[in-house]
Amino acid sequence: TAAGHVIITAKLPPRTQALVDSCFPSQNQALTIYQWKHNKRPTRLQLLEMVKGANGILCMLTDKIDLELIEAAGPQLKIVSTMSVGYDHINITLLSSRNILVGNTPGVLTNATADIASLLVLTASRRAKEGLDAVVNRKWGSWDPNWLLGAEFTGKTLGIVGLGRIGAATAARLIPFGFSKILYSGSKPHSRTEQLLSNIAMAVSSFNNSYSPCDSSFSINFVPTDTLFSDSDVVVLCCALNDATHHLVNCSNISLFKHGAILVNPARGPIVNPEALLAGLCSGRIFAAGLDVTHIEPLTSDHPLALHPRCFILPHLGSATIQTREAMSDLALANLASGLLGKKLYHQVSA
Ligand code: DGY
Repeated sequence: TAAGHVIITAKLPPRTQALVDSCFPSQNQALTIYQWKHNKRPTRLQLLEMVKGANGILCMLTDKIDLELIEAAGPQLKIVSTMSVGYDHINITLLSSRNILVGNTPGVLTNATADIASLLVLTASRRAKEGLDAVVNRKWGSWDPNWLLGAEFTGKTLGIVGLGRIGAATAARLIPFGFSKILYSGSKPHSRTEQLLSNIAMAVSSFNNSYSPCDSSFSINFVPTDTLFSDSDVVVLCCALNDATHHLVNCSNISLFKHGAILVNPARGPIVNPEALLAGLCSGRIFAAGLDVTHIEPLTSDHPLALHPRCFILPHLGSATIQTREAMSDLALANLASGLLGKKLYHQVSA
């Protein structure tokens, strides 16, 4: 049994919540749990109040874990376990300097997030927002050869910023749509992933060739991010948010994008400067955007990006499947328990 006082800042998905409820049916002397179970997220003040005296905190990506919060918690805090792969809400350097462990949940949300990234590429390219608006608002006239023409991918270039787990899984899903070239950028080349993605392209081209012979050349290259922006038809941002990627897409480099490019962000909102994206959409340099995340969440419905017909926005649903959320919360709970017991975390973030 882990000793101490634990804070869980949200009600967890059903299976994990049942585990919490059954393992800790009542408060005992060794371990006490305080869990925020309201539907509305706690305010900052409520969070600061809630964490007082905690040895362990299981937090969400909306809970900012900074100096103020860890001082509110107190010096006995041993472990912060976030139910997310992203940890830009946590001051990792600070926590590490105070020997507070930080756990996160990579891997288990890769497929769900890559699904959403692919969905955004398709909906943005094929103008799904305008199409849906036409259906709902009675703007659907008779079939017209020139109405709502979108873009397709055969022979096009896909740019992936950050070919980590989610970036690679997104590329794997999109290659069968016809991309003949992948450019990727990031901190280092990933030769094994390059090989695996080339194998997918080869299998797809042999399938296609058995129906209609076509040019089956495929290439994948590691390039600087500026080159990726200027040479890609579709750009998908799959990198973490940090000082180097904050406003990675900005007012000075939006003009580098290919005219008519599609920009998709399933990662973190602040990677894109919203003014730059809006200007790009208005000038037509960016043909369409697909966002699962925005610079402020929730984005108000009257924000110019929300109103733009070619900006398709989802409310941060990347990992939102029952299977994935249960896997994330299981892992976050396991990290928390390991930290309290002084054991190695399943996934530890280091500074
Ligand atoms: C994460 O885990 O960081 C994702 O953004 C959740 O959807």
